[in-house]
Amino acid sequence: MPVIADETADETGAGDSGPAAATPGGRSSGGDGADPRSAFPDWRFAPNIGGHPDIYEIENRALDPGGHVLAAMRSLAPWDGRALVDLGCGTGFWLPGYARDASSVIGIEPDPALRRAAARRIHGLPGVQVRPGSAEHLPLADRSVDVVHARFAYFLAPGADAGLAEVLRVLTPGGSLVVVDNDHHWGQFAEILAAASSAPPSSISSAIDAWWRDRGATRRAVRSEWRFETRADLEAVLRIEFPAAVADAWLARNPAAIGLTYGYVLFCVVA
Ligand SMILES: C[S@@+](CC[C@H](N)C(=O)[O-])C[C@H]1O[C@@H](n2cnc3c(N)ncnc32)[C@H](O)[C@@H]1O
Repeated sequence: MPVIADETADETGAGDSGPAAATPGGRSSGGDGADPRSAFPDWRFAPNIGGHPDIYEIENRALDPGGHVLAAMRSLAPWDGRALVDLGCGTGFWLPGYARDASSVIGIEPDPALRRAAARRIHGLPGVQVRPGSAEHLPLADRSVDVVHARFAYFLAPGADAGLAEVLRVLTPGGSLVVVDNDHHWGQFAEILAAASSAPPSSISSAIDAWWRDRGATRRAVRSEWRFETRADLEAVLRIEFPAAVADAWLARNPAAIGLTYGYVLFCVVA
């Protein structure tokens, strides 16, 4: 789940140039009365989910069918009976599942269109809310949350110390942040990541690992897979995640694939 899709392929995708460029059809309205670009200057539009929420839904359904990622997240920071925040919750795919065990769940999302989709998803579910916010601007009291999850959180990465400090502000003493990231070394997904990147995997992952290590994080690698129902679903998802030439080359080399092996890396920081 990288954010390196072909930015020229879709007029709704504003790429990593930031939310100022992400203003197609109504996106400039933040809802909730605020312009999200000024309210959340650290918001970076996600062209995969932001430009293609329906295809990203297919991606989330195909992700980790054995539940290994969730199991690792639980073992790092159990959330049964605890107050949980999903930071950068997108369309809220994971919120109902978290709500089965947590005492309360808050999805935080700066993108107003995604936030509306998340709010629709959790409508009527007790103990679950969706609120506008970003890593650097959390609408939460000091020491009010036990567990913060951030899945594919390119906004919590080397250089994002202000966001990390804000997350630590809202965590209770002993509370945990768990970040789900991509493994740049293991699995077929890592091969595609490498093909799409100008930097070698070792330099990317060593910078990420060092940043988290310096902030006291525990690192946990999880080997899993994407498993789709159809080849068409795999093709659609690869084409929102990678430049067309990279996706098409991998698909041509793997003509029978309806899934791929996928390595994840989790980082956990305890407040
Ligand atoms: C790759 S998507 C993942 C969405 C969701 N976590 C999931 O796994 O379904 C990244 C999400 O982070 C959000 N985002 C971007 N910048 C952010 C920031 N500074 N703080 C919090 N979320 C941010 C995007 O709008 C998007 O919803």
